[in-house]
Amino acid sequence: MILVTGGAGFIGSNFILAWLRDHDEPVINLDKLTYAGNLENLVAVCEDPRYRFVLGGIGDSELVARLLEATKPRAVVNFAAESHVDRSIRGPANFIQTNISDTFNLIEGVRKHWESLPEQARLDFRFLHVSTDEVFGSLSDAAPAFTETHPYQPNSPYSASKASSDHLVRAYHHTYGLPTLTTHCSNNYGPYHFPEKLIPLMIVNALQGRPLPIYGDGKQVRDWLYVRDHCSAIMTVLSRGKPGETYNIGGNCERTNHEIVVEICALLDQERPKPDGRPYAEQIIYVTDRAGHDRRYAIDATKIRRELGWVPETSFDRGLSETVRWYLEHPEWVSRVQSGAYREWINLHYQKLERQ
Ligand code: NAD
Ligand code: DAU
Repeated sequence: MILVTGGAGFIGSNFILAWLRDHDEPVINLDKLTYAGNLENLVAVCEDPRYRFVLGGIGDSELVARLLEATKPRAVVNFAAESHVDRSIRGPANFIQTNISDTFNLIEGVRKHWESLPEQARLDFRFLHVSTDEVFGSLSDAAPAFTETHPYQPNSPYSASKASSDHLVRAYHHTYGLPTLTTHCSNNYGPYHFPEKLIPLMIVNALQGRPLPIYGDGKQVRDWLYVRDHCSAIMTVLSRGKPGETYNIGGNCERTNHEIVVEICALLDQERPKPDGRPYAEQIIYVTDRAGHDRRYAIDATKIRRELGWVPETSFDRGLSETVRWYLEHPEWVSRVQSGAYREWINLHYQKLERQ
């Protein structure tokens, strides 16, 4: 079996659903259920005998040790993290705790467990760490996309905390020989995306008649990948990646934030026209820029394509329209998310931004 951490979050839950669709092998989900963890994402598999949920944190060394000893997974896939840049700017401490200290605790627990395994099991074992392209910092408009050897230049408390955990993973391979794999993916979008991030926030706000707040001039560029393609890339790296290596994952799909929001509005105009016939784009407003806002991310995914044969399958047009439709078809998911801690966060964050 494999152990997934943070499997109740956006990407982790998509990964578990895809894993159980494609594999017979059982999966255990260790998740602390922070505001971002939502077990509703996994209702389709909660009765599946191949799936087991364990409530707990990767920072709990006793739990991690007990779980590894009892279940003896052949791999650990680590999604558990604090993941939202704006939250890291307002409150970095949680990011340092989870993404550095707790992640260290997990890696250390995995190392001790791995060292106790018989030789063949040690050779076969994998620790896959899900990192981000944000550790590489920001690109100018004309600069080539990030390759795996791009220098680390994290600019936010979030990306700095992810960079720290990447360094630990690297050191555990170099020093102890732990068979690690690290992936750096660009911005994901798709079903179950928590509506604090750009794409789901804009869909949900548009439908609820709220403003669509674009930071700064809206010309920042992100490289978008449909979440199911990210999951297939992780499965590819897990099965064919070389221990100690890092792999960039991206969709070769750069868009400005303004383009993204306009495209969402156009899809909603088609799928759910407003009763008064007015365009959703009228709800767009420009607000104070994010502090330290990275201008551009772009991923060069040549290595994973050439060495492991992975390519994304979903075009941005198809992925975005499926995503918009998913949110239209799941209003109850949205309203349950919004009735929780999400609403408190939205109030705290946006009331402090000035309209420009
Ligand atoms: P998310 O915030 O939606 O989910 C994080 C999950 O981790 C939640 O279920 C949460 O409950 C859990 N968690 C948090 N702290 C924990 C702890 N101490 N122990 C156990 N579980 C804990 O995040 P996401 O968007 O699904 O991202 C998953 C991973 O992928 C993160 O490591 C993130 O850095 C990385 N990543 C995300 C993107 C993206 O666009 N979302 C892109 C590239 C990489
Ligand atoms: O690049 C990978 C990263 O992508 C992941 O590591 C992070 O976990 C994930 O959250 C994401 O980070 P971003 O900061 O790029 O994503 P976010 O959705 O927060 O913002 C995308 C862009 O949209 C960014 O330039 C900021 C802008 N934005 C965001 C929000 C929430 C707005 O203009 N308005 C908004 O209200």
